[in-house]
Amino acid sequence: MKRVPIGIEGLDELIQGGVPKGASILVSGGAGAGKTIFATQFLYNGATKFNEPGLYVTLETNLKNITWDMENFRWDIKKLQEKELFKIYKLNLAEKDSENIEEEVLEELNIISEYIEKVGATRLVVDSTTSLAMWIRGSAAMRKTLFQFTDGLKKLDCTTLMTSETKGSKDAISAFGVEEFVVDGVMVLYLHPPHRTIFIRKMRGTNQSMSPHPFEITENGIVVRSKEEVPWEGIHL
Ligand SMILES: Nc1ncnc2c1ncn2[C@@H]1O[C@H](COP(=O)(O)OP(=O)(O)O)[C@@H](O)[C@H]1O
Ligand SMILES: [Mg+2]
Repeated sequence: MKRVPIGIEGLDELIQGGVPKGASILVSGGAGAGKTIFATQFLYNGATKFNEPGLYVTLETNLKNITWDMENFRWDIKKLQEKELFKIYKLNLAEKDSENIEEEVLEELNIISEYIEKVGATRLVVDSTTSLAMWIRGSAAMRKTLFQFTDGLKKLDCTTLMTSETKGSKDAISAFGVEEFVVDGVMVLYLHPPHRTIFIRKMRGTNQSMSPHPFEITENGIVVRSKEEVPWEGIHL
């Protein structure tokens, strides 16, 4: 099996060198846990270390928020955009009529798939799946939509990272409570100030670390301290 390194220092060694190629991975956590930075870093590393084109899909109306992080970490995103190694795509749902919204969402996902094929993108980020809640009502619909989406991506061999916003508590894994069953892997980010902890909850086909590990957001982005473990009692949430 081919593996795709996330490229975040200290992380890949916890999952046998990377996530299975074409896998869909959920990165969940509360506000400020580091999901967006994690996701951006996955694309940035892909582009700069492995020459892999990546696509960042968002529902954010203000795309400045995304470039803030990159400027902050001095990641030269403009250069990557010029080389077609990084692209931001804003989901176009706001003005659509809500009657056939699930179809509309799938149509948007088709546009994404076509783009992926066109530029040969091998890394995709959807940040965040929780914002789809505005259009997709209920966990059953969410599960169905995510399943169709990830299934299509698997055929393209595109490795996908989706973020999910939780309340941030220890047992919170996803926003709808169904996403974790559809995806191939789940990484939970905990923020318990001043500490940050990552726990790999699920990684199909992988002999993974079973312990929570501390991580930091440094001036170069996320760094996982893979040699250290955090006892569950040490996560105060
Ligand atoms: N250069 C930096 N150094 C340390 N921490 C940072 C830096 N830039 C951002 N952060 C931290 O990252 C948080 C935002 O992370 P983000 O990935 O946007 O969270 P979310 O999980 O909500 O997507 C900020 O609230 C801040 O605590
Ligand atoms: Mg975010």
